[in-house]
Amino acid sequence: MGELMETPLAARANASSALLEEILRLKRERNAVILAHYYQTPGIQELADVIGDSLALAQAADRSNADVILFCGVHFMGETAKILNPDRIVLVPDLEAGCSLADGVTASAFAAFLDQHPDHLVVSYINCSAAVKAMSDIICTSSNAVRVVNSLPTDRAVIFAPDKHLGAYVQRITGRRMLLWDGSCEVHAAISRDKLKSLMGKHTQAKLIAHPECPEEILTEADHIGSTASLLEFVTRDPGSTFIVATEAGILHNMRKAVPHKTLIPAPAFAENTCACSECPYMKLNTLEKVRDALKDMKPEVSLPEMVRLGAERALRQMLALG
Ligand code: 13P
Ligand code: SF4
Repeated sequence: MGELMETPLAARANASSALLEEILRLKRERNAVILAHYYQTPGIQELADVIGDSLALAQAADRSNADVILFCGVHFMGETAKILNPDRIVLVPDLEAGCSLADGVTASAFAAFLDQHPDHLVVSYINCSAAVKAMSDIICTSSNAVRVVNSLPTDRAVIFAPDKHLGAYVQRITGRRMLLWDGSCEVHAAISRDKLKSLMGKHTQAKLIAHPECPEEILTEADHIGSTASLLEFVTRDPGSTFIVATEAGILHNMRKAVPHKTLIPAPAFAENTCACSECPYMKLNTLEKVRDALKDMKPEVSLPEMVRLGAERALRQMLALG
């Protein structure tokens, strides 16, 4: 890590110094904070004030007193920051940065589903729209989903949306009766069990670490399951020297910085014609040029109807109150 810290920012970010200087100048002038998810490009991660998983970034957005929050992630993450900061300007570099989970549950379909199960408590994964959050009792992220479900009264049945894989994982751990919305992350669902098994056969000493958005057939093989932050923490504290990493490949940038002496192998995806690893096409829509333009033009800005925001804030704050 020490060696990398001494490398100039332009080299670490693989970008021109002029572009980086312009972004840093605009950031100062706007009194902006840059929050970035681990799945962002290395350049954006190098520039960010805070890098984290969904929970850490929601907490950072909640704590922020900057005038402008530039959220380098996908749309629902920018919305989360806006839900918690109605009086601040929240920008995302590319408003088209969606998410297959969030896009797989519309507010109207969810409302109809809830009408059929009025006696259930509703837990929604943070990867959903503000409108879906507003219909939920409490929100969770991948790092606190088990804790959130365990916090609910045991005599109540639970609806979990929109990730059926994370929901099934939580169900296995908590033993709770849960009705799962049929959604999934297209990136984690594309990790190939066959290719993974063959990779594990070649690296018999390697430990498999996996994000709980992966299907059960991947999770059953894993030595450790956790959020992006938890996977990063695991490779730093575990004595193992080789890890197969079953999540979006962006996390490898920070992992390589944290454990440069260890071998990190991305879990392979099904498709033959893409890179061997898993990349989220939505996360990767953000670029340093779009970061610069967002700070220059003060757009695209995230906005929400106040009624929706208030409902979503209630459910989000239930989660944040758990710590
Ligand atoms: P975490 O940030 O909770 O690890 O979730 C990963 C993810 O898919 C974000 O979209
Ligand atoms: Fe959504 Fe999956 Fe991309 Fe995360 S990695 S933003 S869950 S599509």
